[in-house]
Amino acid sequence: RRTYSHLRRPDSERPSFGIAFDIDGVILRGRTPIGGSPQALRRLYDADGSLKVPFLFLTNGGGVPETKRALELSELLKVQISALQVVQGHSPFRRLVSSRFENELIVAIGKGEPAAVMLEYGFKKVLSIDDYASYFNDIDPLSQYKSWGLKHSYERNYNSKGLQPKYDVYSERVKGAFVVSDPVDWGRDIQVLCDILRCGGLPGKENGHQPPLFFAADDLEYQAVFPSERLGMGAFRIGLESIYNSIHSSPLEYTSFGKPNPFVFKNAESILTKLVTHVCQVKETMMGEKCAFNTIYMIGDNPKVDINGAKKVGHPWFSILTRTGVFRGKDNHEQYPADLVVDTVGDAIDFILKKEC
Ligand code: G3P
Ligand code: MG
Repeated sequence: RRTYSHLRRPDSERPSFGIAFDIDGVILRGRTPIGGSPQALRRLYDADGSLKVPFLFLTNGGGVPETKRALELSELLKVQISALQVVQGHSPFRRLVSSRFENELIVAIGKGEPAAVMLEYGFKKVLSIDDYASYFNDIDPLSQYKSWGLKHSYERNYNSKGLQPKYDVYSERVKGAFVVSDPVDWGRDIQVLCDILRCGGLPGKENGHQPPLFFAADDLEYQAVFPSERLGMGAFRIGLESIYNSIHSSPLEYTSFGKPNPFVFKNAESILTKLVTHVCQVKETMMGEKCAFNTIYMIGDNPKVDINGAKKVGHPWFSILTRTGVFRGKDNHEQYPADLVVDTVGDAIDFILKKEC
């Protein structure tokens, strides 16, 4: 059960602004806080630990359920963060459950726990691509050269006959493929996805209609621990698309979520509005779907993704670009200029609190 007790405060103190933080390259690099992020976030809470400024994390990353990510972030950043405050690239997948996919076999791809993410969203028949691939002998002709083994998986069933698929993957078509987080074994994943997609969801069988394919985000590059940017999900998408289109007569069809799509920012607005109802005990019905803020600050490191997205939506978004991630320029970004450029997230919070309080 979710609790929001740390968010409660009187209606009279309802804040007129909210904040959306990018994670990679703004708050963290890998698992290390950067730019004074723990101290900056602490300033958004009262001394008793209750939230005074509605904020959320708006990341294109993911790989674990929002509940788990909230716990991880709370631990790393030393403030109490609820699952409602964590919007990941794959969070919109939750809305796809109903009717189309709920009871259909789907495959989840990416680092972390992609199948657990989809199960938490309500999908009932989910296999990770690791598990799915393991049921097809020789589907990856290079597996014998790979030094890593597959880790545990709760979807696996072993009995006296060996590995038994949880679902009848040899006759039941995969009805959807969801790239939840950055794929780990690109070669194997591209191979298996091409099999699923061009054979209508039944690898090794004759060609069939392509099942729907979804990507949580489309970041070409992002800032991780290594000094220069790393290839992201968008790079994987380009690889898959280019190969698929070279071996198949009709082009790959897919849908990508994540920033800079305007709906991600609109969704963040409504979550921040919900947070205000928790923070201030105002009645949700009074606020309806209307945005409650004069300004929502987007603090990001990626001009093409974070700043571009906020700009596309316009009011009430105000974009702040930091120099701790993808962007390192001295002046503003030329193609996607932010409303403000600062060195760190700490500087961004200084600016916001001076302006608003
Ligand atoms: O894989 C993570 C990456 O694509 C970007 O994360 O937090 O910078 O949106 P973020
Ligand atoms: Mg980033």
